[in-house]
Amino acid sequence: MTQDETLLIVMTGATSGIGLEAAKSLAERRNVHLIIGARSPDRADALRAAVPSERLTLLRLDTSSLTSVRDFAKAVHEERGTSLISALGLNAGMLGGERLQLTEAGVEQAFATNCLGHFALFDQLKGALAPGAIVLLTASQSHNPADRLTRLLGYRGAIFPNAASVARGKLDESASPAQASRDRYATSKLCCLLWTFAMARLTPGEDIRFIAYDPGAVPATQLARELDFSSRLGWERLLPLAVPLLPSFTTPEASGRSLARLLANPKAAPKTGQYLDHRLQPATLWPKARCTAWQDDLLKVCAGLTAS
Ligand SMILES: NC(=O)c1ccc[n+]([C@@H]2O[C@H](COP(=O)([O-])OP(=O)(O)OC[C@H]3O[C@@H](n4cnc5c(N)ncnc54)[C@H](OP(=O)(O)O)[C@@H]3O)[C@@H](O)[C@H]2O)c1
Repeated sequence: MTQDETLLIVMTGATSGIGLEAAKSLAERRNVHLIIGARSPDRADALRAAVPSERLTLLRLDTSSLTSVRDFAKAVHEERGTSLISALGLNAGMLGGERLQLTEAGVEQAFATNCLGHFALFDQLKGALAPGAIVLLTASQSHNPADRLTRLLGYRGAIFPNAASVARGKLDESASPAQASRDRYATSKLCCLLWTFAMARLTPGEDIRFIAYDPGAVPATQLARELDFSSRLGWERLLPLAVPLLPSFTTPEASGRSLARLLANPKAAPKTGQYLDHRLQPATLWPKARCTAWQDDLLKVCAGLTAS
């Protein structure tokens, strides 16, 4: 792939926060065409304002719905013609509220949105990936029980009884609703890591490079949208003031730029199977994310859910 060639990049979660900043950064590179999946393409004004229309294709996608994923993948194939996809940026994510919510298919909402829809999307687009393509999933330090910052924010790491229980949102029945919601999010992010490492292990060579991205703690995004008023106020207005003082915190702009660098740099991009932070250094990892038995269990359960 030469520098002059157009890079076709497919992304989810690019209508706000880190993903929107990544899209803005990618738009500065004239050789990039973006296909973005968004829940409400008609309302993606910030994205339309940031990316020249001739280099942007906006298609409807709700990653929590396997039907929507299938329709989106079909539309991507129609749009791309014979062009191959140089990167797949799977960044969409949600925290979820305190009430356990299941999709129509009976899958817990955060797991469906952050994990299952993305895994299914990869399956449906993998035949169109360019040699050496990047497949990047946005993970999070919240998965790691030893991470001090996320503990301060009320997380206690992922809980993985088995993949079938995770998919149904059955983690710790004794947890308070607030804790259970954080547990579901943290566990969905562990599953992003398990999937990335499993795919890197099972896909020989560097044909496709599977990368997990830890964007850092990035207040000021829309991630707290399902939380109560005071939590949202803290996340969107107060914590951003502390960003310069706290090394683990960063801005959507800085984190988005790093995400863009990973997606649009086919020659310099890292080796498969890495988990990188917003400084593009190896991120700290809960060793259980490398557990091949958990990885295989997750792949098996997801294959069953996507087949049914
Ligand atoms: N901010 C942080 O501190 C932090 C830390 C670690 C990891 N992360 C991860 O970083 C990623 C981006 O988060 P952010 O902080 O930038 O939050 P954000 O501003 O809320 O962005 C989330 C993006 O995901 C999209 N999305 C959510 N649910 C979707 C669905 N069902 N189908 C399709 N798109 C959906 C949203 O689109 P809509 O416009 O349709 O809502 C939006 O574009 C997420 O994966 C998040 O878990 C964030």
